[in-house]
Amino acid sequence: MDNKSLTIAIDGPASSGKSTVAKRIAADLGLIYVDTGAMYRTLTFEALKNNVNIKDQKALVDLLEKTEITFEPDEKGQSVFSNGVDVTYGIRDNNVTNTVSVVAAHPKVRQLMVKRQQDMAQDNGVVMDGRDIGTVVLPDADLKIFLVASVKERAERRHKENKEKGIFSDLDQLKKDIAERDYKDSTRDSSPLKQAEDAVRIDTTKMTIDEVVDTIKNLIKKA
Ligand code: DC
Repeated sequence: MDNKSLTIAIDGPASSGKSTVAKRIAADLGLIYVDTGAMYRTLTFEALKNNVNIKDQKALVDLLEKTEITFEPDEKGQSVFSNGVDVTYGIRDNNVTNTVSVVAAHPKVRQLMVKRQQDMAQDNGVVMDGRDIGTVVLPDADLKIFLVASVKERAERRHKENKEKGIFSDLDQLKKDIAERDYKDSTRDSSPLKQAEDAVRIDTTKMTIDEVVDTIKNLIKKA
């Protein structure tokens, strides 16, 4: 198959390495990368900024309808814009990280997000990462990957990343936060985190990024 029209879905729990791997695959194959978690984070960021109650589905839908979320590739990988304003760093803030699961659990918010995500993949080859890409957003994707890693390993990866960025974090707290987010994301009613039946599961606990990328590229060759 022509690489330019490939659709690749990468799902998995928080900090399983999805975005790092998805970015690399997209860059290597010349495909668009869509970080769907960043879309839910942008809506959460806007809700917190505008004092919108994150439990109020209708208010969130109204806010989302007024919020254009766009991505632009750059030297850092990709920047995220909310109505043209760069929110790349703001959406990674702890306030957003700790509340985004509540926003992402509203079915009507998800409906609108899924529609936008499907539109982005309409005429383009994409690598899209998230929680429901293989199950809901791109059920006919050419390749579906489900990345997993132990909570301990994911917390340690996040801790190291934070250290490199000069951000203080407590490893035990990170483990608790990650386990809690796993629980919320996989037990919500509306399209919970779940492996698609036809997805390839890759446990990255003992793998390097290069090994994961190579494994996926080999699967693409066979897709
Ligand atoms: O991948 P991430 O940590 O940036 O995702 C942020 C949150 O958004 C996470 O709690 C799960 C949710 N999410 C989702 O429900 N569906 C997606 N397709 C992507 C993310």
